[in-house]
Amino acid sequence: MGERLAGRQVSLWVATAGVTTYPSLDSDLEVDVAVVGGGLAGLTAALALKRAGQTVAVLEAARIGTGVTGHTTGKVTSLHRLVYTELADRHGPDVAGRYGQANQAAIEHIARIVAEEGIDCDFRRVSNYTYAESDDALARVRDEAGLAARLGLPAAFTSDVPLPFAVRGAVRLDGQAQLHAVKYLQGLARAVDGAGSHVLEDSRVTSVRDGVPGVVETGHGTVRAREVIVATNVPVGDAGLFAERCYLHRSYLVACPAPAAPLNGTFISVDEPMRSILAIDVDGSRYVLTGGEGHRATETADAAARYRRLAAFSRERLGTGEASFRWSTQDTMPVDGLPYAGTLTPTAAHLHVITGLRKWGLTNGTAAALILADTLSGRHNPWAAVFDTNRKHTSSTGQAGGKRPQLDQAAQLPQPEQPTVAGLRPGDGAVVEIDGEMTAVYADPAGDLLAVSAICTHLGCTVAFNADDSTWDCPCHGSRFAADGAVIQGPAAENLAPRPAPR
Ligand SMILES: Cc1cc2nc3c(=O)[nH]c(=O)nc-3n(C[C@H](O)[C@H](O)[C@H](O)COP(=O)(O)OP(=O)(O)OC[C@H]3O[C@@H](n4cnc5c(N)ncnc54)[C@H](O)[C@@H]3O)c2cc1C
Ligand code: FES
Repeated sequence: MGERLAGRQVSLWVATAGVTTYPSLDSDLEVDVAVVGGGLAGLTAALALKRAGQTVAVLEAARIGTGVTGHTTGKVTSLHRLVYTELADRHGPDVAGRYGQANQAAIEHIARIVAEEGIDCDFRRVSNYTYAESDDALARVRDEAGLAARLGLPAAFTSDVPLPFAVRGAVRLDGQAQLHAVKYLQGLARAVDGAGSHVLEDSRVTSVRDGVPGVVETGHGTVRAREVIVATNVPVGDAGLFAERCYLHRSYLVACPAPAAPLNGTFISVDEPMRSILAIDVDGSRYVLTGGEGHRATETADAAARYRRLAAFSRERLGTGEASFRWSTQDTMPVDGLPYAGTLTPTAAHLHVITGLRKWGLTNGTAAALILADTLSGRHNPWAAVFDTNRKHTSSTGQAGGKRPQLDQAAQLPQPEQPTVAGLRPGDGAVVEIDGEMTAVYADPAGDLLAVSAICTHLGCTVAFNADDSTWDCPCHGSRFAADGAVIQGPAAENLAPRPAPR
């Protein structure tokens, strides 16, 4: 065991927002639109539809703000590192420009909602910077600044970057923002609930069915709706095979007490290792968040070492104290670089999905939600084609209509030594074979053993223990389960089955 890590393992946003207590679905309900998932995408879509005169029901498996959005960095920006160069190369400048416009419109939408709904979420306008330290990165930020400006974004190259360490230059985008992600979600939920619309927590959806009406099932009730939106980050059940078009990417964050002088802006590096930086005052304390250390969720990770590297960067380059909070989360990355908002499958009529928000979902998720709100209200949306779920796509193997790619990667993972239950210390977990079945065994802090099936309920891969988060993670498509087997994040929709505790 290494030295203990500094800080609480909980996101700053979750730790400082309080908890919502909406009821769960315990009977049948009829509304105009059912929204599955109470994260940024689902709640934004729900509120836009309610404001357009529809009744909505948001079904959230856990509590508002406990998903990916509750673990974000909090930047509200159209400058996604070097996204315009990337998208213009792959899809042409027109698509890159429309991606930028959709994100700019999303920032203004968030600002408007914060003001009109009176959401107290530390929303603050800032400039956002993509900065360069090496010669190569400098050339790339110059190119990105020029391209983004030509595409109509408020972008410029600058060598005046307000960081406490020297950099060569940056793309600067003005009029961007940052916010407290969970307080924002809780404000959206407050605005959605009431007047014939509902926010329902602790209401995990087990199936969605297209039709007239569309049908959404939980274990305790059914919602019938004219239209259904699946906004569970990784689509529940994955009828649209998004696991082939997206992969899950995890990153880590530390929040450290900040020096007195505030950082004036939000920042991300071009050079590796990538570092993402944001400063925020919460409840009278000032923190600097540093994110990075990303990797595919299908790869093994030494989370403790990653947190240590982030904390060292924060101390040494940003002058902060030790980490007060640390957390990690993962988001869906579209292989072709563009988010998805549209029908869940090519033949679906009333079943829609939002996914593939590429780790920039505060704006991409808002834009995607507004696209669906327009579509469902019969309005034209200028960016719908860019986010279209039925566009020609490349699978994550790089082949059209490819096979399940990450299964192959999983097969290449090194096989650890055969663990035994006897060797488990409190807080440890291991997959062991018991009576011919692969069983995931966790020793709780008191040393009592908890056993569940180790077979992922998505497509049957064997889960592995993530010691830092005390979760069972699937190496194939990134599903995550709590120590007791409850699904945290899909594509799996069902919990790991309980097994008798070994003795
Ligand atoms: C480390 C990191 C940092 C990031 N930083 C930024 C940033 O600074 N700016 C930015 O724009 N983006 C950022 N992102 C991306 C952004 O946070 C996400 O794209 C966005 O929050 C995703 O929103 P969502 O609504 O899709 O997902 P979520 O917030 O996860 O919402 C989905 C909800 O669905 C619920 N759910 C799941 N299954 C079911 C079910 N079966 N039934 C009912 N409910 C269900 C979940 O509990 C969850 O609450 C970051 C991502 C990562 C990984
Ligand atoms: S996430 Fe697909 S098999 Fe586990």
